[in-house]
Amino acid sequence: MAQVTEWVNVTGNTIIARESGEVWFHTLRSTNVDVDPFATPMTGSGSLGSTNGLLDGAINLGFSRIESRLARPEPTLAGYIVALVGAYHTSVDTPRNLRRAANRFNELGRPEVAAYLEERAREETGHDRLALKDLRALGVPGERLVANFIPEGIKPLCKRFDDLCAEDYPIGCIGYSYCLERIAALKRKTDIERVRALCPDGVDATRFLRSHSSLGSEASHVAETIEFVASLPAKDRIRVVQETYESSLLLAEGYNHELLKSEAEMLEEIRQAIGEALPYRCRSAPLDIEERGARPVA
Ligand SMILES: [Fe+2]
Ligand SMILES: [Fe+2]
Repeated sequence: MAQVTEWVNVTGNTIIARESGEVWFHTLRSTNVDVDPFATPMTGSGSLGSTNGLLDGAINLGFSRIESRLARPEPTLAGYIVALVGAYHTSVDTPRNLRRAANRFNELGRPEVAAYLEERAREETGHDRLALKDLRALGVPGERLVANFIPEGIKPLCKRFDDLCAEDYPIGCIGYSYCLERIAALKRKTDIERVRALCPDGVDATRFLRSHSSLGSEASHVAETIEFVASLPAKDRIRVVQETYESSLLLAEGYNHELLKSEAEMLEEIRQAIGEALPYRCRSAPLDIEERGARPVA
C-alpha cells in the first residue's frame, strides 16, 4: 500500500513528510502544478507519522531562523524565577481560552474539535498554580510578582494565543499549544536536576517544570495532539502546521529575548515588581559594599 505523504507551505518553504517519519524541506520553484506537485495544497488524509513530521518540521524551521543568534547562557536562579513568571502567564488563561475556542467549534457544528479542546482545557487547569507554588517555595511573593511583571519576550506569545482562540475559525490554537508542549516535552531529567542544583538546599521548586517535561504529562499531551491533528481534514491540518511554525518563531524570539538579559537586569526587574530585593543572594550577584569589605571573623 502506498505511504501517506503530506505537505504544507510555510512562507516559501514546503515541509513534506511521509508516514514513515521522513521529512524534507522543499523550496517551491514554480507555481505550475505540472512542474511541482507540491505547489497546490494537499487534500488527502493524514497519518500519525506524516502529521508528526509536519508539526515537528514546522518547529525546526521556526527555530532554524534564529539558530545563529540563539543565546546559551549559564543557568541562574534569577533566570529560573523569570522563566516561572513566564510559565505562569502562558498557562493562566489557557483553560478559559481553550473553552472559548471549543464553544465556537460547537457553534460551527464541529463537536469533535470542541470535545478535544474541552479535554485539553481540563488537563491544563491549575498549571498556573504550579508556577506560583514554585515561586513561593523559592521565598518569592509569587502573586505580587506575576501581577506586576510579564517578561517582555512572553507578551507576544500570550497575545497570540488570546487572538487565536478568539478567531472565527480558531483551529490555529492547536498549533500554538502543540509548539509550546513539544518544546516542553524536550526537557529531560538532567534539565530538572540542573534547576534543582540552583535552588537553595531543601527547596523543591520544580513542580511546573516536572509536569511540563518528558517526565510529566506533556509527552502524552503531545502524542494525543498528533493523533487528533492527523484525523482532521487537510485544510485544518494545513492551518495547524502553519500556526505551529508562526508560534515557534514567536517562541524562539521571545525566549531568546529573555535569555539574552544579564542576571543583574533580571534581578532588577524582579525587584521592581515586588518592591524589594529577593530574600537571598543570587549566586553571581555582586556583593554589596559592606559584604565586600567585611573581614573574616578571626
Ligand atoms: Fe500545562
Ligand atoms: Fe500540557
